[in-house]
Amino acid sequence: MLRDTAVALTAAGIDNARFEARLLLSHAACASTDEMISRGRDPAPSAIVETVRALTARRVRREPMAYILGEREFWGLPFKVSPAVLVPRPDSETVIETALRLLPDRARAWRVLDLGLGSGCLLLTLLKEFPNARGVGLDASADALAVAGDNARALGVAERATLLHGDWRVPGWADALGGPFDLVVTNPPYIEAATIDGLMPEVARHEPRLALDGGADGLAAYRLIAAAGPRLVTAGGHLLAEGGEGQAADIAGIFAAAGLRPLAPVKDLAGIERVIPAVH
Ligand SMILES: C[S@@+](CC[C@H](N)C(=O)[O-])C[C@H]1O[C@@H](n2cnc3c(N)ncnc32)[C@H](O)[C@@H]1O
Repeated sequence: MLRDTAVALTAAGIDNARFEARLLLSHAACASTDEMISRGRDPAPSAIVETVRALTARRVRREPMAYILGEREFWGLPFKVSPAVLVPRPDSETVIETALRLLPDRARAWRVLDLGLGSGCLLLTLLKEFPNARGVGLDASADALAVAGDNARALGVAERATLLHGDWRVPGWADALGGPFDLVVTNPPYIEAATIDGLMPEVARHEPRLALDGGADGLAAYRLIAAAGPRLVTAGGHLLAEGGEGQAADIAGIFAAAGLRPLAPVKDLAGIERVIPAVH
């Protein structure tokens, strides 16, 4: 089964096919990869064979592994994911690192806002790291909010998190959030609309368009968020935005034009300027 699955994944253009095949098999069998090795010669029950076939067919259609397994780790925490939410990326951990550096007092009752909540990976991780903080998360997708709500409960931070349905394209959107906040984080959609179909199939075909599409130049969401920035961020508070490769200078310019003071961009592990901080 391992060999056949790896062959099918390789034929679908997937790198690391044998590693992924192992993950699919252990997920189907509800067994660790170590158990799979030690029991590798046992005959597989037909139910497991069928499950492996079904999971392999999904991966061959290039559905992201995280949607198939239903979970992705972020900042060492398990996050439930579904096709309603962007799969949390390691690059986004740079937002958390930057927040912890700029707000060194972990015990303060910070007020935190996350614009474009998705799975909740940014807001809920911050609520874990700041045990007295309270947070608000906004998303235009009701299905994403349901996933984030499940994650808030599973991580034990639900009482400190308010999750709101809203859309920053609608005038007056920021009024309902109950600001201002000490820290506003956002990882908005930032892909140029015309380039989305050329991305890898896992992203282009399976991740939500609403989580990807940043308009013609990729910067539409930053303009709308920055315009509300001075009202949403306390005096001396911070706005931290994740951006795509090559966008940092433009995003900093948008923040400055809105009356915020941009700080030096923070690079991710690949050396890409990933987080654009600004102070109010
Ligand atoms: C790139 S995803 C980021 C999700 C999560 N914060 C993360 O880092 O993995 C952007 C999120 O913004 C939400 N979104 C997109 N446009 C929006 C809008 N106009 N108003 C509110 N939320 C929006 C999407 O539904 C999506 O969940």
